[in-house]
This record gives sequence, C-alpha cells and structure tokens, in this order.
Amino acid sequence: MSEWFETLDGIHTRLWSTLGRGVADAKHPARIPTLATVSPDGWPEARTVVLRSADRPTTQLTIHTDITSDKIKSLRANPRAALHIWDRKQALQIRLQTEVTIETGPSARPLWDKIPDHAKQSYGITPPPGTPIPDALDYVKDPDPATFAILHCQITHIDAVHLGEQHRRAAFSQSDDWKGRWLSP
Ligand SMILES: Cc1cc2nc3c(=O)[nH]c(=O)nc-3n(C[C@H](O)[C@H](O)[C@H](O)COP(=O)(O)O)c2cc1C
Repeated sequence: MSEWFETLDGIHTRLWSTLGRGVADAKHPARIPTLATVSPDGWPEARTVVLRSADRPTTQLTIHTDITSDKIKSLRANPRAALHIWDRKQALQIRLQTEVTIETGPSARPLWDKIPDHAKQSYGITPPPGTPIPDALDYVKDPDPATFAILHCQITHIDAVHLGEQHRRAAFSQSDDWKGRWLSP
C-alpha cells in the first residue's frame, strides 16, 4: 500500500485533513498558521493567527481579527495573503496563497454572538492594536462587536512539501482545478 505522500491525491487529501485538524484541535500545529501580508508601503509582514475554519468544497479558510489592526490596512491596500503551516509530526509544510475578503459589521454579528466571552477579549482594545503606549499595560480591553472582523481567505494556490527519506513537493492551483503537479523540492 502506498503512503499518502506518494501520490498527488494523497498529498491533497492529507493537507486538507491537516487544515481540518487545525480547526478542531487547539494543540495541533495547523491551529496557528502564520499569516503573511504586504503592507501598504510594500513591506512583507507576518504574524500568528488562529485558523477558525477550513472548507475543502469552497476552498475557503477563515480567520478572526480586529478591524483596527494593521493587517486590515494591508489587506485593504492589497487583498492577498499567504498562510504557512509546518506540521513537524507529518514532516509536512503547507503554504497557501489566498484572496481575502473582509467581513465586519452587522453580517459578522451572528458569529460574534457565538464567541465565548473570554475569546471576545481579543477584539476591542483601546488604544487600537499597534498604537504606541507609555507603559506596557496602558491599554483597556473592552470587547466590541464593531471591531470584530472575519477574514474570508479564498485559496488560489497550495504548495506542499513533505520531508521524507526522499523529499517531495506538490503544487495545487485553482487555475488547473486542483489537479496538482509535482515540483522539484
Ligand atoms: C498564538 C497566537 C494566536 C493569535 N491569533 C490571532 C488571531 O486569530 N487573530 C489576530 O488578529 N491576531 C492573532 N494573534 C496576534 C497576532 O499575531 C498579531 O500580534 C496581531 O494580530 C497584530 O498584528 P498586525 O499588527 O499585523 O495586524 C495571535 C498571536 C498569537 C501568539
């Protein structure tokens, strides 16, 4: 029987199940991908986020964030983002290129209402995230649905690397209907 990393289909299925594990399991490495964007003045920027959903049929991921954070300025200037995951146990790197739509306001409210109180603390901070403050704790947390935003990340391209006895690298693109092809690692 072949291993999952020996076929394009096997890798494609495995990377989606890995994303699903990340959503479901707070301890899984896919839970906290690195989200990379480009700032309005062209600087690359990366930060850890929590993966909230991963849907293979629509090839969409979601992330929650604060509408006042700098990443929103970046995404408004350039609505594209990359996500990076390294799953050491599976020796699998997953990189995703996405087009991002920002949802905030009344349509995001039903989801906000389902978020537990402790998690709401991450949205609504005064002054806004990234503002210089005189001392480390000179800020106030005041959960505010008006600052809650959902990033809908529509995947356009996936690059997967498996580091086995022999390394394998595969690419999957929306433009070729996710057929996949092998790349030199
Ligand atoms: C483990 C971990 C999880 C995080 N999850 C999120 C998240 O889901 N959404 C978010 O906006 N920021 C999250 N952050 C904070 C970001 O990494 C970042 O510091 C913050 O969003 C400000 O980034 P920005 O200035 O680039 O917008 C998380 C940080 C850590 C360490």
